[in-house]
Amino acid sequence: MKNSQTLYDQAVKVLPAGVNSPVRAFRSVGGTPIFMEKGEGTYLFDADGNRYLDFCGSWGPLVLGHRHPEVQAAITEVVGRGWTFGTPVKEEVALAQLVADKLDAVEMMRFVNSGTEAVMSAIRLARGTTGRDKILKFRGCYHGHVDYLLVDAGSGLATFGTAASAGVPDAFAELTALAPLDDLEGLQKLFAEIGEQIAAVVIEGVPANNGLLIQSHEYIAGLRRLCDQYGALLIFDEVLAGFRMPEVMAYAHYGVQPDLVCLGKVIGGGMPVGAYGGRAEIMHHIAPLGKVYQAGTLSGNPVAMAAGYATLKAYYEADVPAVIEKLGAYLDPRMEALLADVADLGFIRLGSLFWFYFKRAQAPRTAEAIAAESGEIYGKLHRLMLDRGIYMAPSSYEVGFLNAAMTTTELDMLLDGIKAAVEEGIVS
Ligand SMILES: Cc1ncc(COP(=O)(O)O)c(C=O)c1O
Repeated sequence: MKNSQTLYDQAVKVLPAGVNSPVRAFRSVGGTPIFMEKGEGTYLFDADGNRYLDFCGSWGPLVLGHRHPEVQAAITEVVGRGWTFGTPVKEEVALAQLVADKLDAVEMMRFVNSGTEAVMSAIRLARGTTGRDKILKFRGCYHGHVDYLLVDAGSGLATFGTAASAGVPDAFAELTALAPLDDLEGLQKLFAEIGEQIAAVVIEGVPANNGLLIQSHEYIAGLRRLCDQYGALLIFDEVLAGFRMPEVMAYAHYGVQPDLVCLGKVIGGGMPVGAYGGRAEIMHHIAPLGKVYQAGTLSGNPVAMAAGYATLKAYYEADVPAVIEKLGAYLDPRMEALLADVADLGFIRLGSLFWFYFKRAQAPRTAEAIAAESGEIYGKLHRLMLDRGIYMAPSSYEVGFLNAAMTTTELDMLLDGIKAAVEEGIVS
């Protein structure tokens, strides 16, 4: 790890904690971050030449694995002609047409440069469309680092939030109400109280940033009904869950139709891209057609659009959801057998997302149900996996990502790692 350590020592002098996104810093698992240099298929190679099986997948975009040949060719072809023109380009039309063709909830969309921007812009659009100011989000859902979405539950019975980050004025947080996941009765009460003031409800398609908190179909159907009853728009943030589900999208998994959908990660194929979209009648409120302002110097740039298009084209041609379900059919029963007598550790998978949870008989559906000891146990598991050449996200709250480049060889490596964790007594 000599080169990684040298890079880290240099990095901490010029980048806070040596990173550009906090969770990369390994604070919650211990040790220092590993500097990666190359990706190939489902493997990463670090600055010292070590190889790792990659279950982090750059936090979600790489549904095809690293350097898929068609994505690489598309990027190279565009770069040969130039990489930003500040004008409309054919690549953004192609990607928008493909997304609109495949996602029935998205008639029109606007491309931005990150998931954070997508959610922020969708909420502005919802506020501009409904003429209401308040929004509702769920405890345990993450939507990027937008000020008024970095919000904690207020004390006691307070409905509206308090700032969860220094630098976020409480006044911003006060427009955001927090609702419990997996509690339809609680949600009904909240709507009865403030439903008519709510512009939009934003929910992660499948909450996957605070563990994998899969919600019941009844809960999501109930949420849709309440939004309709009180005239609030329903925003599905599918930045992470989109193109990761057996039904492609989380809204399709639940069989509900959101008013707006936020996309990111996979639709950029690993380039910085986000998008928000929905029915044309709502999207017509965006400038210059309507009065909701939103813009971006590099939005829809041809490199990112070509990478996203090539990724989605390959995704549909290979029927990636079916490929993933085949991998799941191999992994799930073997993991279940391995963990049958292990009380400390549970495994849950939906589409290409999976999560290990600790000290619970059932997979948690709320952030509050996650065991407090999870971080400590996961830290040990993470270290063991790393020693075996397996790179998992450096936090117990993060999900793992399968990708279409994986085979049973890689799944066996994961299973062997878990077997070793049981044998070494990390979990029992
Ligand atoms: C559900 C969800 N929404 C929004 C975001 C923010 O996206 P970005 O990091 O591209 O700004 C993320 C990032 O992990 C996410 O998982």
